[in-house]
Amino acid sequence: MQKNYIMESPKIISIQMNVLYGKDILSIKNLKKDEIELVLNKAEEMLPAASGKKQLHNLEGKILATAFFEPSTRTRLSFETAMHRLGGDVIGFAESKTTSTSKGETLCDTMKMLASYSDAIVMRHPYEGSARIAANCVDKPIINAGDGAGQHPTQTLLDLFTIKKELKKIDGLKIAMIGDLRYGRTVHSLLYALSLYDVEVMLSSPPSLQMPSDIIDELKNKIPINIVELDEVIKNADVLYVTRIQKERFPDEEDYLKVAGYYTITSENLKKAKKDLIVMHPLPRVDEISTDVDSTPHAKYFTQAFYGVPVRMALLDLIMEE
Ligand code: CP
Repeated sequence: MQKNYIMESPKIISIQMNVLYGKDILSIKNLKKDEIELVLNKAEEMLPAASGKKQLHNLEGKILATAFFEPSTRTRLSFETAMHRLGGDVIGFAESKTTSTSKGETLCDTMKMLASYSDAIVMRHPYEGSARIAANCVDKPIINAGDGAGQHPTQTLLDLFTIKKELKKIDGLKIAMIGDLRYGRTVHSLLYALSLYDVEVMLSSPPSLQMPSDIIDELKNKIPINIVELDEVIKNADVLYVTRIQKERFPDEEDYLKVAGYYTITSENLKKAKKDLIVMHPLPRVDEISTDVDSTPHAKYFTQAFYGVPVRMALLDLIMEE
């Protein structure tokens, strides 16, 4: 496995180190554009192994710990698949009630234990900032797999990979995010990442679920960000990134009920869309994309979820192999 690239010319011999080796991935903001591109390029190389056409052994002898204090299907299982496809092993838990946190053990102590049993830790936790707290407790790399309404950086990497694979580019696109932009951590991470590209972003959400103003204020001078009605979004977008209303993050169920079922994308709506529009969704979906969209050429959300495997293989390989 190549990690340090030796570039040779008659006059210069330089060794380019793997800049991601041993690094925590807590927020997409911690990654520079060339680091993001490094992961995306490596993910392309991982595709045959990701789909089981060949077995890699890059991480043989390494152990990944998965610490999921919140439910997950795609993130946890695609990380586990990624590790197995690279020849490594996995330990971990899918719900905290089966661990000693239910006896009162602190997050820091739990993470110290996992760090002593493994080479890197993927964690999901309901509290924003929890991944950073964990990273301060241990000396093994921590990968944030979602911290409350905060960030979900590896989802963003696979979202960017999906756009690149399906539309052959990111620059020049009109990318729309719709739904719960307030509590949806995937759109927070994605907007930060898109600010590194030459794109136009359209946002559409119920008034109570708009993108947090501090994120817009931070990014509005880097890329055009416009708040647009759903009909206009569907007509103009190249990418329609749909999100679920994050019921579990509402402090008050009545507030959730006011916005539940606010919008549903149907194959009928999409008749007004550009021919090459791709519809993405981090999943799980509830009712925001009708199942009749699944059979249209626009639907890319299941492919997107599969791309979690090559992208997480690339990331694990870069972080865990010097
Ligand atoms: N996209 C995503 O984070 O899905 P899971 O909650 O199933 O991991």
